[in-house]
Amino acid sequence: MNTPPEQIDGVRVRLRRATPEDAPALFLAAANPMVMKYMEWAAQTSDTQARQHLEGAAQRWNEGAEFQWIIEDQASGALAGTISIRPKGHSADIGYFLAQAHWRKGFALEAGQIVVAWLKAQPEIFRIWATADAENTRSHKVLERLGLKREGTLRMASCRPNIGGDPRDTALYAWCKRDA
Ligand SMILES: CC(C)(COP(=O)(O)OP(=O)(O)OC[C@H]1O[C@@H](n2cnc3c(N)ncnc32)[C@H](O)[C@@H]1OP(=O)(O)O)[C@@H](O)C(=O)NCCC(=O)NCCS
Repeated sequence: MNTPPEQIDGVRVRLRRATPEDAPALFLAAANPMVMKYMEWAAQTSDTQARQHLEGAAQRWNEGAEFQWIIEDQASGALAGTISIRPKGHSADIGYFLAQAHWRKGFALEAGQIVVAWLKAQPEIFRIWATADAENTRSHKVLERLGLKREGTLRMASCRPNIGGDPRDTALYAWCKRDA
């Protein structure tokens, strides 16, 4: 598959390839329990962990396994969140988060529209999918607005370490070329 552009400008957001230097701002954005509640990984306790994650992300970009961008607020240049795509064969999944200060501005939608448009333009991609905790209604709305359809609920499919307890139900959303 082609490697996507390292920087893509939208109307209000800019996507730029994440680098280890983003660790302090990323750590701050992810330090909020509201942001981390439905994530599949435990909240980080230092920006060293964020740096390690970003170093891994840089390697995965070079290997073509995952492409992770910082979502930047074009008006201020501030880090608003991240968005990633993971191509595998004929499909790719997407994942994102925003710092809480940037919720309800349409930034996840715009960032999602950019990466979904890029994926749809790749001839080998037939399916674009994402999962979200069954109770993460804000994320469900983003995915529906991106044109992904809910395919069902994966029962007790995901552990959410920041909530704890038993594995939780997960909503599965997808777009496929047949929908186009
Ligand atoms: C999931 C998450 C990214 C959704 O953020 P969000 O701000 O609700 O989503 P968007 O950026 O698409 O913004 C949509 C909202 O902005 C509003 N909005 C304001 N200005 C807008 C504009 N110019 N264009 C579009 N929407 C706009 C919309 O009306 C909508 O509000 P509503 O949901 O009350 O109807 C965010 O809640 C988050 O990061 N959560 C924590 C991490 C997480 O759960 N990630 C997903 C894991 S699957």
